[in-house]
Amino acid sequence: MNKTLFVKTYGCQMNVYDSARMADVLAPLGYRPVDNADAADMVILNTCHIREHASDKVYSELGRLRLLKEAKAKEGRRVTIAVAGCVAQAEGAEILRRQPAVDIVVGPQSYHRLPELVARAARAGGGALDTDFPIESKFDHLPDESAAQGPVAFLTIQEGCDKFCSFCVVPYTRGAEASRPALAVLQEAERLVAKGAKEIVLLGQNVNAYRGPGPNGETWSLARLLDTVAAISRLERLRYTTSHPKDVTDDLIAVHGAQPKLMPYLHLPVQSGSDRVLEAMNRRHSVDDYRRIVERLRLARPDIAVTSDFIVGHPGETEADFEATMTLVKDIGFAQAYSFKYSARPGTPAAALTDQVPAQVMDERLARLQALILEQASAFNRRMIGRTVDVLFERDGHRAGQRLGKSPYLQSVHVQDDNLSIGELRPVEIRSASAVSLEGRLADGARDAAAA
Ligand code: 5AD
Ligand code: SF4
Repeated sequence: MNKTLFVKTYGCQMNVYDSARMADVLAPLGYRPVDNADAADMVILNTCHIREHASDKVYSELGRLRLLKEAKAKEGRRVTIAVAGCVAQAEGAEILRRQPAVDIVVGPQSYHRLPELVARAARAGGGALDTDFPIESKFDHLPDESAAQGPVAFLTIQEGCDKFCSFCVVPYTRGAEASRPALAVLQEAERLVAKGAKEIVLLGQNVNAYRGPGPNGETWSLARLLDTVAAISRLERLRYTTSHPKDVTDDLIAVHGAQPKLMPYLHLPVQSGSDRVLEAMNRRHSVDDYRRIVERLRLARPDIAVTSDFIVGHPGETEADFEATMTLVKDIGFAQAYSFKYSARPGTPAAALTDQVPAQVMDERLARLQALILEQASAFNRRMIGRTVDVLFERDGHRAGQRLGKSPYLQSVHVQDDNLSIGELRPVEIRSASAVSLEGRLADGARDAAAA
């Protein structure tokens, strides 16, 4: 009965959440988590397919695992290898063909079927596949999560995407938008808080498209869900990610102004600052729509930190289009942003377009955009120096006696203090800043009022 499980997670926070749930569903079979493949009877690669080279990385990792599996077989131990996540969904049976050492391929909607797949693979000596989009929701069939996630807990409330951006695989790998019932979310949130979570991050590929069935047949919005989860008394902080501009509703903006547990932070990908490119990307919003949303958010919550994602070099992007992106970034002033070179994903509409942007042009644009973003992130962080902000401490830092936590604006904050415990929420006076993190010391007094 005593077996060990190693889950290697690639990609987004939803995969982090899913990895924890896979461990939960396998626990009754006797699988105990370990932190490396060498010590594991079962290895799951929870994969990401959003950009290129993802599947190459998975295949080379599988090559290494095959050697491990063969070495263990000589010692008389069987190692089960599973591929989960979006590469599993996209490539399916191809994975079993290309790497026969793989026993199980399981798509993101089928994790509740893992015990059955493990048994089937053991019986057949490998080769169990499940990448269907089942009618029933996996959430109804997963056990209540067993392991505590720590002071910051992730909770998936919505999956899938109906937006079909030209470049993106998510609508194909994660399926149609589906929201979990409000009551199920509330119960999970209460359990997480009972296990020590001080902060909950509500997750969804398109989280603000949340439209969950309520207990009385009504439909709940994300705004209503946020307010209700915030009412859990021992919960201190709430966040949600990732949002789409099209689904930023008036009531959601209002919650940012009115709900003190909702942190002053929003990750709102815009992808491009050119209307022509947004149209080609099928984003369903204009640059002006985005500017207005940010303006209204800042009216509701003046100190809100806005972050974004950008793609440079979408097919057809001209120098003028790229300059429009640079202008938007300068005008908005982001707290942080992630930027990527466009990568053609097989099966997406953009991959079939003929006016692909040359690689050197993409490299050059990406470097300019990243330099500007770095400058903005550094400036945003420098403005914190001298201020006192609440920090929720999540883990140990690299140095002895150092703790690492997050500010309300999701900045990493290092504090050197032996008496500080993980899970504490304490005011910290910020003393220095870089583009990626802050450093400070515990402050005795009360924190500042939010600075604009
Ligand atoms: N190429 C480059 N970046 C992509 N993203 C999604 N698909 C692609 C792609 N094909 C980026 C988007 C998205 C983030 C999670 O990944 O910016 O917001
Ligand atoms: Fe992909 Fe667009 Fe859906 Fe985001 S909104 S997951 S980028 S298709």
